[in-house]
Amino acid sequence: RLLIIDFGSQVTQLIARRLRELNVYSEIHPYQNVTDALLREIAPRAIIFSGGPDSVTRAGSPRPPQAVYDLGVPILGICYGQQVMMQDLGGRVEAGEHATAEFGRAWVTPTGLQSELIEGWFTDAAGRAQVWMSHGDHVSEIAPGFEVLGTSPGAPFAITADRARRYYAVQFHPEVHHTPDGKRLYENFVKLAGFKGDWTMGAYREEAIAKIRAQVGDSPVICGLSGGVDSSVAAVLLHEAIGDQLTCVFVDHGLLRQNEAAEVVTMFRDHYNIPLIHADESELFLGELDGVSDPETKRKIIGRLFIDVFQNHANEIEGAEFLAQGTLYPDVIESVSFSGGPSVTIKSHHNVGGLPEKMGLKLVEPLRELFKDEVRALGRELGLPDSFIGRHPFPGPGLAIRCPGEITREKLDILRRADAVYIDQIRKHGLYDEIWQAFVAILPVRTVGVMGDGRTYDFACALRAVTSVDGMTADYYPFSHDFLGETATRIINEVKGINRVTYDITSKPPGTIEWE
Ligand code: XMP
Repeated sequence: RLLIIDFGSQVTQLIARRLRELNVYSEIHPYQNVTDALLREIAPRAIIFSGGPDSVTRAGSPRPPQAVYDLGVPILGICYGQQVMMQDLGGRVEAGEHATAEFGRAWVTPTGLQSELIEGWFTDAAGRAQVWMSHGDHVSEIAPGFEVLGTSPGAPFAITADRARRYYAVQFHPEVHHTPDGKRLYENFVKLAGFKGDWTMGAYREEAIAKIRAQVGDSPVICGLSGGVDSSVAAVLLHEAIGDQLTCVFVDHGLLRQNEAAEVVTMFRDHYNIPLIHADESELFLGELDGVSDPETKRKIIGRLFIDVFQNHANEIEGAEFLAQGTLYPDVIESVSFSGGPSVTIKSHHNVGGLPEKMGLKLVEPLRELFKDEVRALGRELGLPDSFIGRHPFPGPGLAIRCPGEITREKLDILRRADAVYIDQIRKHGLYDEIWQAFVAILPVRTVGVMGDGRTYDFACALRAVTSVDGMTADYYPFSHDFLGETATRIINEVKGINRVTYDITSKPPGTIEWE
């Protein structure tokens, strides 16, 4: 195992992510918990010190125990971790002044000293490597035994190594995207530490199950199931860990897609035998949404009702102490670390944040360390069908935000049928997996048409399909005209109530993916 000692960096989980990509198993432990006993238990083959926001020049700042240096295993210190290492081993660190602080892109050049750590590095045309710096303090004197492998104008000790003891320290963050060769550095490090790279998602599953059992003991656990990939994988994993101690609560707000509620119930209750409360509350939601057309008001109503309904049903589960959520790492990490700038509310996102406190429940978040693609891999490992795991994201407020203007049962019904035809078309043409998200929005206008010999006056709809990596930015999908024509014909022929189909070619920004 590889031990990552966390000193509080925003991006510590990314180190684990890079290691998982290399099929190396790592465990992150906050520095306060790294005791001699823990070190004995983990018996790490290598250690990484993460970055962190503190200053090693401050008395009482976070430190690892001396014992980590006595293990004789390779250590890699990153940013704050580098400074900790230097200070612990007899070097010097100076507190940040404006002139020496460094944030953002920098280029490191080699000094000519060889090391396994930097094999395959410095490969750009100028023989340098691009890195991402983010530090206030800096090392002013390296510890005895260390040598410099790479330097940058702002960081003379950008990469240093004590090659005999296999201690390595870098000033920049190799785990982030903006250090393109960063993964190579981790690869070199784990190789020199003797890892074979044979760890798999199957092993993750075992570890996750053990952790869940240790956390919840005998207590009943409630899990909010939405039918989306994340909550589904979380539910199946939890059920495997604690069996019928788990009860899922599925709030059906009447804004789901065609057959969706039935599919969720069949899969979880019948196929997986997971105790499931199907809270069919469409009357309540659609009643309160009646006559409402303002997008933010819709979102707020749905969010509020969802919490109420969830709470009512969860109260039926006696003695529950834990609430499980399919929170992923990107929900945890604040994107502030690399974007910055003021943010405004574009849309109030629907989630169940705040619920655990309100209900006095503790959180279980077994997917907290994973990225979307890893959740999918775990889902596959757990035997969830591919068609389910590969599903496009579906927003919490459901079809409400695909129905601009007032929501009526009639419009929802038309929307569901049009959406089903559209998705069927996309699947038939083998395009589903190339698209991040595709759906139909029903527009709040009726237009005139002619079908047969008669006049029609029906709804118009818009098809939406986008490519994206994370939903933050998106581009419209370039369907062929043949595909669009065929799809429009099918929708108009098969869905009574629609007589006009348009294709939305707005990117994000300036548009958003959903219509509201
Ligand atoms: P927008 O429309 O903001 O959507 O470009 C970006 C991604 O987020 C999804 N989305 C939501 N997901 N609750 C969710 O769980 C919400 O309230 C919500 N609003 C938008 C949207 O489907 C897209 O994938």
